[in-house]
Amino acid sequence: MFNTNKLINYQNVLSLPMVITIIIGLIVYYIIHFYANLRHYPPGPTPLPFIGNILLFRNIKRHLNEDLRQLYDIYGPVVTVWVGPKPVVIVGDPHVVKQAFSRPEFMGRMDNMLSSILCDSEHRDLLLNSHISSWESLRKVAHIAVRLDLEYFTKFKYYATGFLNDMDNTFILCEYIPVCRLFMSDPLAKFRTTYNQCFDYTLNVLKTHKNTYDESVCRDFCDVYIGAKRKAEVECLPGVQWLTNNNIAASLMDVAVAGTETTYTTIQWMVLFVAYFENWHQKLMVEIDEVLGHRVATMADRPRMHCVNAFIAETLRYRTAAPLGYPRVTLSDTTIST
Ligand code: HEM
Repeated sequence: MFNTNKLINYQNVLSLPMVITIIIGLIVYYIIHFYANLRHYPPGPTPLPFIGNILLFRNIKRHLNEDLRQLYDIYGPVVTVWVGPKPVVIVGDPHVVKQAFSRPEFMGRMDNMLSSILCDSEHRDLLLNSHISSWESLRKVAHIAVRLDLEYFTKFKYYATGFLNDMDNTFILCEYIPVCRLFMSDPLAKFRTTYNQCFDYTLNVLKTHKNTYDESVCRDFCDVYIGAKRKAEVECLPGVQWLTNNNIAASLMDVAVAGTETTYTTIQWMVLFVAYFENWHQKLMVEIDEVLGHRVATMADRPRMHCVNAFIAETLRYRTAAPLGYPRVTLSDTTIST
């Protein structure tokens, strides 16, 4: 049975004008708080409440870098752009980027929908991990060697590259403006399912590798991790607790997602440039013939291949596969000098 007296009392207390007043009051409070908060961030275009500066980037035919270059001209090399209610500080100067990336407080990653799939409470992942100690341990091993196994990457096609086609602007809206999630289907639903399947598959690959591991033969990236873990256990090295099976499997998957589309896109551009710029085509051919002849290149050839190095560096600069990098999050309040 309802207590009708109480219902009537609520109706008396919360009359329509009062509800409207409360809502307006909350909106005014939000707006004042939002604008007062701007002074804590580097300069940038004035944002609108709720949507931030997203209207600045509405011309999807223009490359984002062009919009950003205009902002650097006005506000300097460190600019705050509000994507919905979230401030994103963009650094457009390589010296400032170097300065920031050398400091531990800049090592965080966003706690978002994507990282909730890749990382977990045990900090298993390398790519989107904000937990410095586990990130350092996993990164150290990842730097040792990278060899890509074709079968592995074929199985991972959707996880490594295909999902990018499915993640259009709706993903950005969902990620940055949480209220949008109420009106949209989950843009990461397929990615989540695929990730879990690939993760189980990787754990199995790791298990098989462990059973057949021979420290005198390094078959691939998986063996590098197994070897690093064994060494860390024997020598009681710091960070050994971050080399669990889950950590290793997640880091192997990071290589697939971080290394496939980026490399593929860059090589595609290189092929196009070689076809388009005939003089460069000739220069590269001459250098390759002179230095390598008919043998396969090794890292030792690198210092002698100036044209090839310049061509790769220029492709990465001119048509970079990750023009905005991947966002980092500061782990504490900080400042940066420009
Ligand atoms: C042209 C090719 C590539 C481009 C443009 C590229 C770009 C990037 C960028 C911008 C980041 C974020 C950097 C940061 O915030 O610190 C990153 C991180 C990463 N990339 Fe690449 N990448 C490429 C190739 C690869 C390859 C081939 C692999 C692996 C085989 C790889 C594995 C990783 C990993 C594991 C990270 C995370 C590193 C960390 O958090 O310390 N990338 N990459």
